[in-house]
Amino acid sequence: MTKDTATRLIHTRGRRMDQKTVNPPIERASTVLFDTASDLYGAQPGYGRMGLTVHRELEAALCVLENATHAKLTANGLQACALAIGSQAKAGAHVLFTDSAYGPTARYLERRLDRMGVGATRFDPRCGAAISNLIKPNTRIIYLESPGSLTFEISDTPAIVEIAQKRGICTILDNTWGAGLLHKPLDLGVDISVQALTKYAVGHADIFGGAVMSRDKRVAQQIIDCGEDWGISLAPDDAYTALRGLRSLKTRMDAHEAAGLKLAQWLSGRAEVSQVLHPALEEHPDHALWKRDFSGSNGLFSVILEAVDPAVLKRFFDALELFSMGFSWGGFESLIIPCDPQLKRAKGHWIEQKDGPLLRIHVGLEGTDDLIADLEAGFEAMRGS
Ligand SMILES: Cc1ncc(COP(=O)(O)O)c(C=O)c1O
Repeated sequence: MTKDTATRLIHTRGRRMDQKTVNPPIERASTVLFDTASDLYGAQPGYGRMGLTVHRELEAALCVLENATHAKLTANGLQACALAIGSQAKAGAHVLFTDSAYGPTARYLERRLDRMGVGATRFDPRCGAAISNLIKPNTRIIYLESPGSLTFEISDTPAIVEIAQKRGICTILDNTWGAGLLHKPLDLGVDISVQALTKYAVGHADIFGGAVMSRDKRVAQQIIDCGEDWGISLAPDDAYTALRGLRSLKTRMDAHEAAGLKLAQWLSGRAEVSQVLHPALEEHPDHALWKRDFSGSNGLFSVILEAVDPAVLKRFFDALELFSMGFSWGGFESLIIPCDPQLKRAKGHWIEQKDGPLLRIHVGLEGTDDLIADLEAGFEAMRGS
């Protein structure tokens, strides 16, 4: 008997190609099929949420990048930070975290973990070995981000890792700025490196992604288990896009670095600028640490302007044509944002000394002379000419 059209449409499969192509196939699949009932249980991957071909290739590339043995993919960068922390936290534990952590990660630590019985305390990103004074008997995690979000402090990671290892404390580092290329936290003894792939890995501001990298088998299993319990996954199309981004990461990063340095140097000579926060500049307070632990820089840095009336600062932003205003960074386009509304730091942070506004700049892949001319026009508008 001829089967119904609906039945045939559902059950018709053409010959599956088994060719070798430069790029992996994107399998859009929740369901993975098995030939026998006994194959159903225990197969890896048994379900699309665990990732398929494209995910395995992306994980392998990230392991190469970070000198890791395990990578767990997440839907975005914040989820990667939360997963890394969540995989190591348990009720009654205490977390020490850098005062310059990405804002939503700090919020997760202070608001969400607190409800689960995990205490979190900020530490000065420049404290180095003095972190030992803050460690409590129940401290289980030290969470680092280097350079710090918005204020760009570089942590003395090896000094902190040495202390953490002696006390059996897990160290986690948000390596989004280093993108795995400029900084290798696992080589410095950090237990877990986290990245928002959304930024430089993807590079085109078009999708979200995150990843949690580790070397230790036990730690990796804890991350996998927590990811499964929380149902964390990355869509196959997004995994493909992130993998494609990684192929050109080094070339793009070289261009961002050269352009970022040129603009940072130009800005440091401007009368309107009080301080440039770029760790590759010699005048940066943590330049020696950056030189020791990083192999390069990128297009993201901040400037603190001299004190300026908000109405005058508005004229600066209104005059810009190439620098757009919007959150995120790491894409091909140049961005600039005023940061003061999101600049939350513990009392005593050095940023309290500043008089003028803090602007974060992401230098994209446009011509650098055009970008300088754009900022010049902004400064001219501030002067009222
Ligand atoms: C340092 C850092 N970590 C994590 C994230 C979160 O990434 P996502 O936007 O993909 O959630 C960001 C986002 O700006 C970031 O700057």
